[in-house]
Amino acid sequence: MPDPAASTAPAAQLHADQIAYWNGIGGAQWVARQAHTDAMLAPVANLAIDRLAPPPNASVLDIGCGCGATTLMLAARLPEGRVTGVDVSAPMLTVARGRGAGIGNLAWLCADAATHPFPAGGWDLAFSRFGVMFFGDPVAGFANLRRALRPGGRLLFACWRKLAENPWMGVPLAAALPHLPPLPETGPEEPGPFAFADPERVRRILTDAGWRAPTITPGDVMLDLAGGQGLEAAVESATRMGAAARALRDQPETVREAAREAIHAALARHATADGRVALAGAVWLVASEAPAA
Ligand SMILES: C[S@@+](CC[C@H](N)C(=O)[O-])C[C@H]1O[C@@H](n2cnc3c(N)ncnc32)[C@H](O)[C@@H]1O
Repeated sequence: MPDPAASTAPAAQLHADQIAYWNGIGGAQWVARQAHTDAMLAPVANLAIDRLAPPPNASVLDIGCGCGATTLMLAARLPEGRVTGVDVSAPMLTVARGRGAGIGNLAWLCADAATHPFPAGGWDLAFSRFGVMFFGDPVAGFANLRRALRPGGRLLFACWRKLAENPWMGVPLAAALPHLPPLPETGPEEPGPFAFADPERVRRILTDAGWRAPTITPGDVMLDLAGGQGLEAAVESATRMGAAARALRDQPETVREAAREAIHAALARHATADGRVALAGAVWLVASEAPAA
């Protein structure tokens, strides 16, 4: 059954837009903010990798591995195994390669995970932290990933729950919105950070793609927007990454400055004396299995 994406844009166009984004401004922002983002999102990495619980000799495919944070963590957990990080963003993967230099059980692949002809049954486990919500045709993409796993292989990924459950993005966005012209409508199922917020949609995509019915459980974390470096660092983070940053992109400097001041005031309410600006983040941990042959 085709996935009824809410957008009227064709899936191929949405997919191509994402690849361009991650090789353009999106990738550049992640590269520039890699250390800060790794620290901020570490609670999600820990939660998801613990839930994956890879045996020490497993082979793991890390999908949309970006600058390699979770790939490196997985490599350290697999003394007798191996991990392959795949990402479509050349600039992000360049950073990942540099960080992984000299680590023997790591490989990198610059490819579109939704369409790349992976060796069939090449991995035991597929993992992703926030790297699987950007496929224009998610059913086809997840069918492709299923073929990359051995029969009975397991999938575990983390994706965002809805914006209202993610104040770390919602608080800066709500502060910025009064200063912005109306934002373009985006369908709730368009590729993007919240594309998998609806667990029923995720369930449908995975089963249509030939995976076993998934187990979808909530994960709740506190995310320190400041990385322990105080309010200004948190404001910088909120205006460079996440929902407010996306809304502010392409706005004139006067608008950006007014929104920045509003974000500063909103985040100040969450700043603590130890330099943290921690707000709640909410993910789904989605686990499934490739059927045995
Ligand atoms: C939100 S970032 C997450 C990066 C990384 N997993 C992390 O948590 O640090 C999303 C990543 O998915 C990658 N991505 C998006 N579409 C992809 C595709 N079709 N194939 C492979 N990677 C893709 C992007 O290039 C980006 O690195």
